[in-house]
Amino acid sequence: MKVITTIQELQQALAPYYAANNTIGLVPTMGYLHEGHQTLAKAAVSENDVVVMSDFVNPTQFGPNEDYEAYPRDLERDARIASDVGVDILFAPSVEEMYPHQGGITFEAGAASKILCGATRPGHFNGVLQVVTKLFQIVRPTTAYFGQKDAQQLALIEMLVRDYHMPITIRPIPIVREVDGLAKSSRNVFLSAEERKLAPNLYKTLQSLQQTITQFDHIAAKAQIEAATNGRVDYIELLSYPDLQPVKEADTQLILATALYYDNVRLIDNIIFTVGE
Ligand code: PAF
Repeated sequence: MKVITTIQELQQALAPYYAANNTIGLVPTMGYLHEGHQTLAKAAVSENDVVVMSDFVNPTQFGPNEDYEAYPRDLERDARIASDVGVDILFAPSVEEMYPHQGGITFEAGAASKILCGATRPGHFNGVLQVVTKLFQIVRPTTAYFGQKDAQQLALIEMLVRDYHMPITIRPIPIVREVDGLAKSSRNVFLSAEERKLAPNLYKTLQSLQQTITQFDHIAAKAQIEAATNGRVDYIELLSYPDLQPVKEADTQLILATALYYDNVRLIDNIIFTVGE
């Protein structure tokens, strides 16, 4: 596996693949790789001729009160993990390489970026769409891989590609779960023993809400989750997918998305589904 830090070197390395019309998989990450990233990379490796993983802590998606500097970084460890799962190129540019000019064009991700998790992170998704657009332009992948766990990010990227006619397939990778259904997260270790016992009920409640989706009632759903989990609901929303708008009769793709506070941790989970399936 090659570790590459400049755009020029990356495009030189990819030139033979462009020329041969090969498939190029892109797995965008901010590094400090975990099991979730490995799952994305494994899918990319099995489906493409060449796989680029980006490893870049993007400053423009951090708010002024979020600690960009303290975000964990360990390129050597990332390189070992990426190489073990079969990634061909780890692209780890500097901030200067990615953002050589001050000012310039910025992104406004729109209404769908200001709800759900975006409600408490103003500007976050503008930065995500900005860096993802740059990565798409730099790498020119045929397919890019994103986890469904970050459903709002995934939805906004699906919209970006659709609305701006980008010739890229977005491949959502389903949430990886513990055997009891709890969505895997490095934050689960912050759950107390009692919370850990009840936390799988979050997903179970989403599943039962999906079964009775035509009767979805926001207040009742919130009460149902809180009773089952003993946590405090941050949000529970039923929306169209990927537009994240209030559901209209004609909508067939929907998302049930929730975030739940426990004492020391906030859990997120979601189900994306087709009505009637
Ligand atoms: O999901 C992430 O790790 C980041 O938001 C992404 C997509 C790599 C953009 O920086």
